[in-house]
Amino acid sequence: MNFERHILCIGAGYVGGPTMAVIANKCPQYKVTVVDINPDRIARWNSDELPIYEPGLEEIVKARRGKNLFFSTDVEKGIQECEIIFVSVNTPTKNFGAGAGMAADLQYWDKTARQIRECARSDKIIVEKSTLPVKTAQAMKRILTCEDNGIRFDVLSNPEFLAEGTAIRDLENPDRVLIGSSQTPNGLRARDVLVEIYANWVPRDRIITSNIWSSELSKLVANAFLAQRISSINSISALCEKADADIQEVARAVGTDSRVGSCFLNASVGFGGSCFKKDILNLVYLCRYYDLKEVADYWEGVIRINDYQKERFILKMLDALFNTLADKKVCLFGFAFKANTGDTRESPAIFVARRLLEERARVVITDPKALQNAMIDMEGESGDISYVEDPYAACEGCSAIAVMTEWQTYAGLDYERIYRSMVKPAFIFDGRNILDHQRLFEVGFNVFPVGKPGLTHF
Ligand code: UDX
Ligand code: ADP
Repeated sequence: MNFERHILCIGAGYVGGPTMAVIANKCPQYKVTVVDINPDRIARWNSDELPIYEPGLEEIVKARRGKNLFFSTDVEKGIQECEIIFVSVNTPTKNFGAGAGMAADLQYWDKTARQIRECARSDKIIVEKSTLPVKTAQAMKRILTCEDNGIRFDVLSNPEFLAEGTAIRDLENPDRVLIGSSQTPNGLRARDVLVEIYANWVPRDRIITSNIWSSELSKLVANAFLAQRISSINSISALCEKADADIQEVARAVGTDSRVGSCFLNASVGFGGSCFKKDILNLVYLCRYYDLKEVADYWEGVIRINDYQKERFILKMLDALFNTLADKKVCLFGFAFKANTGDTRESPAIFVARRLLEERARVVITDPKALQNAMIDMEGESGDISYVEDPYAACEGCSAIAVMTEWQTYAGLDYERIYRSMVKPAFIFDGRNILDHQRLFEVGFNVFPVGKPGLTHF
């Protein structure tokens, strides 16, 4: 079949995989190839068991794979055959050298840019999909054009706003698509090519264009604003627990003001995920680089509150369980950083599990999709950890349950049965406020929600 366009994506992760699957599904006239240096990952994309869990993803991949959607490890061939390259390689926080713990580690980006330069035989449009520090596009352009080999490279910024667990819905029906380009005739021409691709299914008025730096910065700021809302409500949750107020009632009262809005006001054990912390650190680093100390401190506060919220959760457990967790079995309900994903990156559950082990508790982890990742995260931690798929079996002999992830299945369990199998007095710490606290209290549990006073029998 003759395809209208050949699109390549470098990096078959949480961003690249779902994004390309949706493009292939919406645009059967394009050939979409996803490449990755990790052969296991590619083998899994080509198998019945995809490397990531995302509702709706499997159906799309199965429908398009082998027709106009291909997964391969042949990066070089992929670069040669395509005209547009989406780059969604990982950009973790740097853990060495200058900017360690703050700046983005750009080594994968840098290598990708060099590989594109070496393999390209025709003009390419390069699309930044990964979250990157501002001005990466400029650095990329410099790497690509440092040798005059007669090939044109136009670099666009097209940040990804999908959230895990709802990625397919977010991609199919986005609030907006943002495309940043240089304002030169060539830059604008490249931008229009990308606009045309999205216009296959996204209404034109939701495709926003901007200069390239605004686009790069908007991604960091969008995530910083979302995270800031969570830290704001979490900070107030601490006050509610002291002042006998109810954080859900406060959030509702505040969020019904249309100027504020009701989303992202769920108090929790803390936010996780691969983006929020990394992007805020990036923003903070950028502000410090430009000597904007007050601005940097302001945004750093969002992370400080998140750390405080996680530590507060542990201290509450310790306090309620008579100041010792040693040898007590504690079951974590959920390990994913949010529901409907198997992803555990930066999950608050990692922190809570480690701290419980420090207190010499015996930790039991259950999760419908994230147990494999949990085992990888906890590898090398010393202490008593077990992984149990069935939540009922996981709770047996435990003194406490801590809800880490808002999986709906946890709200529907038979808590009378669970209570009977636990050591008494039995405790529940609902880090997501998804359970019926009054009912649990009546069953016999001592219940500690987030942002509400605890319900205890003593
Ligand atoms: C986020 C952004 O939402 C998305 O636009 C961006 O592209 C990537 O980063 P993601 O990290 O996948 O997406 O999930 P998100 O739904 O934003 O949740 C992040 C964390 O915040 C999770 O741990 C979640 O449980 C937590 N959260 C979210 C809360 O604690 N309270 C809330 O009200 C909302
Ligand atoms: P994200 O959540 O941003 O999608 P992931 O870590 O899930 O991040 O995915 C990034 C993918 O990029 C990984 O599968 C990794 O193997 C891949 N990758 C990193 N560097 C390269 C490279 N130079 N060429 C191809 N793939 C790469």
